[in-house]
Amino acid sequence: VPRSDAINDVGEDVYEETRLASLYDHLNPWTHQDDFYVAQARRYGSPVLDVGAGTGQLAVGVAEATGLAVTGVEPGAGMHEVARTRRGAGGVTWIHAPGQTFQTNTRFRLAYMTGHAFQAVHTSEAATALLTNVARHLAPDGRFIFETRNPEDRAWLRWSGDRTVVDGAEHGALQESYEVAQQPDGLIALTHHIRLLDHNEELLGHSRLRFPTRETVEVECAAAGLELVEWYGDWDGSPLHEESVEMIAVTRTTR
Ligand SMILES: C[S@@+](CC[C@H](N)C(=O)[O-])C[C@H]1O[C@@H](n2cnc3c(N)ncnc32)[C@H](O)[C@@H]1O
Repeated sequence: VPRSDAINDVGEDVYEETRLASLYDHLNPWTHQDDFYVAQARRYGSPVLDVGAGTGQLAVGVAEATGLAVTGVEPGAGMHEVARTRRGAGGVTWIHAPGQTFQTNTRFRLAYMTGHAFQAVHTSEAATALLTNVARHLAPDGRFIFETRNPEDRAWLRWSGDRTVVDGAEHGALQESYEVAQQPDGLIALTHHIRLLDHNEELLGHSRLRFPTRETVEVECAAAGLELVEWYGDWDGSPLHEESVEMIAVTRTTR
């Protein structure tokens, strides 16, 4: 697994390899989290930017549900390949680049980063660079909305052990489980074991997640020229409190 912690710290196999990426939607189907972002798109309007769009499930979903202009930015080769070849992909503009360095002349009314993709950015320096570049691409009074798991909740302690079996369509029955390790630098390292039960095959993937505190995110946003408009603690829009599982940041540019 590439282990670069430079500003553009991407390159993990779960996002780079097309075979692993092709399993992603089966293991991570549409949820109320996606509905939340469709509602935000309806609220703020066109054009919409999906940062770390992954397989494009939500970007295409937003375009189809709302008719708004949607751009998807994704650095992982495998994820990008799945996204730009999926049904409905023609309705989205795709950019194969990291959030820190993508460029377009479009200025967005809404940008969002979901599926906890913000946690896939491994250093404060890289996160600040990403926030800065996204802020630069917002229209006046545009919003950037993203979520990160509350470190107080220590969700990773619940992630070991087997998961339920899911229907992986052409892949057959799938079961994913994780080995979880806390690294000295504070990142949570996951080894994904993905069993293709009908093929008697197991694939391994690797990813790391950062769990910044609310205060850290606020410092990074301020450095990037983004102000916090609101913190939600849940997809129903209820406010953030200490026991919240999610920390959902609604930000806007200070320029
Ligand atoms: C867990 S997936 C979520 C994908 C998608 N947003 C979703 O909700 O299904 C995390 C995504 O973040 C992407 N990512 C990692 N580093 C990134 C960066 N620096 N800029 C933008 N996206 C990044 C990964 O390539 C991956 O597609």
